[in-house]
Amino acid sequence: MKKFLVLLSVTLVVLAVATTIKIGVVLPMTGGISAFGKMTWEGIEIAHKMMPTVAGNDIKLVLLDNRSDKTEAANAVARAIDKEKVAAVLGEVASSHSLAGGAVAEEKHTPMLSSASTNPLVTQGKKYVSRVCFIDPFQGGAAAVFAYKKLGAKTAVVFTDIQQDYSVGLTNYFMKAFRKLGGRAQPVFYNTGDQDFTAQISTALAFKPDIIVITGYYPEAALISRQARQLGYKGYIMGGDGLEAPELISIGGKAVEGVYLTTHFHAKAAATPMTKKFVEMYEKKYNKEPSALAALGFDDYLIMVNAMERVLKANPDLVNDLQAFRDAVAKEIRNTKDFEGATGKITIDKNGNAIKSVIVDVVKNGKFDFAGIVNPDEIPM
Ligand code: PHE
Repeated sequence: MKKFLVLLSVTLVVLAVATTIKIGVVLPMTGGISAFGKMTWEGIEIAHKMMPTVAGNDIKLVLLDNRSDKTEAANAVARAIDKEKVAAVLGEVASSHSLAGGAVAEEKHTPMLSSASTNPLVTQGKKYVSRVCFIDPFQGGAAAVFAYKKLGAKTAVVFTDIQQDYSVGLTNYFMKAFRKLGGRAQPVFYNTGDQDFTAQISTALAFKPDIIVITGYYPEAALISRQARQLGYKGYIMGGDGLEAPELISIGGKAVEGVYLTTHFHAKAAATPMTKKFVEMYEKKYNKEPSALAALGFDDYLIMVNAMERVLKANPDLVNDLQAFRDAVAKEIRNTKDFEGATGKITIDKNGNAIKSVIVDVVKNGKFDFAGIVNPDEIPM
């Protein structure tokens, strides 16, 4: 009998250890904004290596490529949930992708934790979709404060990609805050994939701006900067987090020297002990400075696993009930409080949003350099 019990408990332990929890990762690994997917994946992989299990269960990552496409973004989330039976989804990056994918996660009652999507609508009215980054009313406000107060800019033209929810939103929040501070602002519009911005730049120059603000992503921002300089524009250029990819610099060259951008992280603005640890692990593996997206990917994974851990500590059996586990994790994510991540101390509020400081970078000698920090209480809302 004793022997039998020992055997039984050994078997049970083995069974418990053998459980694998799958987490889907949906990112743009190919297509227009593939730099975003690659950087985010680097951070997630490092975090997975650091913490490969949760409450004694192995974690398996399933990476799905949304090909930088909205429809694919929704399809990939559906595939992760229905075919791969993931417990949760990490991603996506572009707000329009998170909106498309998030609608699927919400409908299928599966937690999704975006690392980098900043448009307010991504989480609005949802129970299953949360994020580890700040939202664009903050980001746009911080950019306006920096432009108006630190740079002394009084007139702004805002280049807006009308195909991206992120860009349209950020333009509105920037202009609102900039006007509230006393500045004058006017938008001009373009489409994702555009190559020639001569018409918009002519319109912009007629406005005599102190600053050109670009609220889209790096491929177009690099070209807008180049063409604006070629056409004689001498003022400031600034953008949002969508500019932060090495490609901005490799495509933009000299034209992007001095470009300011708001973002989530800089290795020089070490926020927590975890920041240091992350930077060390990253530099050891990749031999370069980590990007904001890698840091956000790292935090995204850790916060998800942390929520899973709290759920399984309270109720270990949930690991065998996929849907109940998904429901519990989605709720628990919003109980994240003062989590020390690479990008700072993270608290996720009841609406699924994180409130954090905004970092300002400047392109200097072909690199993203730290230029400042704007805290939430400095922003006119
Ligand atoms: N904030 C952007 C969006 O919502 C995504 C992004 C974040 C891109 C950080 C680059 C760096 O679409």
